[in-house]
Amino acid sequence: MNEFLTVAIEAATQAGAALRTEFERPKKISYKGEVDLVTESDKHSESIIVSKLRERFPDHAIVAEEGSRGAAAAAKYCWHVDPLDGTTNFAHSYPCFAVSIGLLEAGEPLAGVVLNPIANELFTAAHGEGAYLNGNRIQVSSVEKLATSLVATGFPTHQRANNRNIYYYWEFTMRSHGVRRDGSAALDLCSVACGRFEGFWEFGLNSWDTAAGMLIVQEAGGRITSLDGAPYQPGARSILASNARVHDEMRDVAASIAGGAARSLP
Ligand code: IPD
Ligand code: CA
Ligand code: CA
Repeated sequence: MNEFLTVAIEAATQAGAALRTEFERPKKISYKGEVDLVTESDKHSESIIVSKLRERFPDHAIVAEEGSRGAAAAAKYCWHVDPLDGTTNFAHSYPCFAVSIGLLEAGEPLAGVVLNPIANELFTAAHGEGAYLNGNRIQVSSVEKLATSLVATGFPTHQRANNRNIYYYWEFTMRSHGVRRDGSAALDLCSVACGRFEGFWEFGLNSWDTAAGMLIVQEAGGRITSLDGAPYQPGARSILASNARVHDEMRDVAASIAGGAARSLP
């Protein structure tokens, strides 16, 4: 296993242990926006991860959700850290959240770790070396059609009003076995990677939400693009992740909605 992945796993494991302990306690919540929550645990988890990355890789850049930055933005290696993906779930004691740590080299994913500390599920991937869940190789599902797929999406906490994703939610619900909205984009991507979901889409995610999960999906044999099929870079306007087999069908459904063919809601 390469050193980058080893250190990312150590950092995620330490941060995950802290989150697991703090999950049982009363939460200290504040607001970044109308429904955009942040807890003391987001900050604590970030400080654990960032200090480890800074100590081991002082020349690497770091972009972390709660504001930590490291080294020069022009550095060859940049870590994208979500210390607690699923803060709303965590704040409501709903046990679905993760630590997500992804490393990009000149913009390309090199290593990714997503840890669900409640389920004890550790998803890992290094470029060219496959994707793993708790050390066992994982693969995307072999379902061929959207009609027999379970898919997922999410709604950004910073934009509650006028969110067009509700139309996509409606349309994909009508055309699949169902659409889940679990509240952790990093875990949604991992669920595609290990075959629980056939596809996942969302608008407005940040690089720290997807840098790790993107590689885990790709290394599990899945496909990642923007929702219109264009190449995806972490932080792009939209993401479509799939088992590859239902990708074009999901992209075409999305295009028909964007083109105005969506049903009108009652
Ligand atoms: C959120 C989760 C959620 C997604 C939101 C994200 P956070 O991240 O990933 O599933 O729908 O768009 O902002 O705020 O819990 O780190
Ligand atoms: Ca997030
Ligand atoms: Ca977060």
